[in-house]
Amino acid sequence: MRIAVAGTGYVGLVTGTCLAEMGQTVVCFDVEKGKIAALQQGRSPIYEPGLEELMRKNMEAGRLSFTADEKEAYREADVVFLAVGTPEKEDGSADLTYIEEAVRAVAKHMEKDVVIVTKSTVPVGTNERMRAMMERWKPPFLRTSVISNPEFLREGSAIHDWFYGDRIVIGASEADKEAAELLSRLYEPLGIPIVRTDLASAEMIKYASNAFLATKISFINEIANICEKVGATIDDVAYGIGLDKRIGPHFLQAGIGYGGSCFPKDTKALVQIAGNVQHQFELLEAVIQVNNHQQALLVEKAKQYMSLRGKNVALLGLAFKPNTDDVREAASLVIAHRLLAEGAHVVAYDPVATDNAKKHLPSTVQYASAVTEAICDADAAFIATEWDAIKQIPLSVFREKMRTPIIFDGRNCYSLEEAKQANVTYVSVGRAAVVAEGCEVKKGKY
Ligand code: UDX
Repeated sequence: MRIAVAGTGYVGLVTGTCLAEMGQTVVCFDVEKGKIAALQQGRSPIYEPGLEELMRKNMEAGRLSFTADEKEAYREADVVFLAVGTPEKEDGSADLTYIEEAVRAVAKHMEKDVVIVTKSTVPVGTNERMRAMMERWKPPFLRTSVISNPEFLREGSAIHDWFYGDRIVIGASEADKEAAELLSRLYEPLGIPIVRTDLASAEMIKYASNAFLATKISFINEIANICEKVGATIDDVAYGIGLDKRIGPHFLQAGIGYGGSCFPKDTKALVQIAGNVQHQFELLEAVIQVNNHQQALLVEKAKQYMSLRGKNVALLGLAFKPNTDDVREAASLVIAHRLLAEGAHVVAYDPVATDNAKKHLPSTVQYASAVTEAICDADAAFIATEWDAIKQIPLSVFREKMRTPIIFDGRNCYSLEEAKQANVTYVSVGRAAVVAEGCEVKKGKY
């Protein structure tokens, strides 16, 4: 089979590379010529562990190539995976311009029957509309099918997720059963359970999955906020509830809220989708609201301990989570803006996301090339991402390097015991604050 992948963002690139690794011949297309030129030289535009190595291996084996020429990409393709962006519009709904452009291009250049597989997250009903578009635009003597095959890849562990995912969802209309069969066979070697369903249900599975996970995070963050006030410890509470098999231990890590390219966008889009059918999704609206609040909470907490005006503040971690250079909707950006608004001087550190963060932050933010450099002479440190490069620095080093060892940890990277031993002031999420001996800052006093 000849496979084309439209879009070389994080989903498209991982999809194309992993399909090639499975032995398929894959050509990846993108409109951005600069990106394609870099990819042709084996350079990945995103930081994703293991991706560049796997890309190069499959390019050398002649199974993976890149092109900015849509005709070359689609002309002989049997299957086209759509992995183009569906950015958020101002009203929270998904912008389908790129999807439409890709469908039009496939219809224009196809020279044989083609199966379109939608990986991009699209509102319920979109794949059905894409079928109609293809029928209208394709050459009359050729057949097309449209399959919904949402992705569940986590940034930072996307390659692992491709090969060891929990499930593969394949949605198709009755008329496209054969194409769904073909796609199932393609995925069969992975040995991952396949859910076969209709188009709308497949689309809904994606939104409902992300909405549920976001709900779990906002739920545990609310519990953490209450824990702080009633003297309970979130680590024990999360462990205690997670042992219940009906709840499960995953996604119960309290912190400064979810970010990234999926949860914020998909939750808002689902509220819109529900609204379009006159259903007010109150629960999900609250999840979003809790998350917005949670992203800003750490600075509010810090203000109870100290005035930030004129202070040197180290901001540790900029990526929305570890092992990625993605800063989209990252809590770090909200924190940075709030710190600046409070009059603090911010020195930020991230092992890989600095260049991306610079595009979103004012030039007054300074950047350090190591944690120890960022915390040197700092009056306070904020931890926004639980990178190993940050977590592995003992709190005793914070004590030595900082002017005043006050740490606001949005990711609960350290135990309270370590904070006490290191004699630092340590304020985390859902746990009692540790106040260093001799530390002048006390809650409520500046
Ligand atoms: C997510 C989904 O997991 C994936 O299936 C989907 O297809 C794409 O979106 P991703 O955005 O890469 O993946 O990251 P994920 O690991 O899910 O984390 C999202 C956010 O939630 C991060 O900001 C993370 O810090 C936060 N999070 C996650 C928590 O705050 N607590 C948790 O327990 C888990």
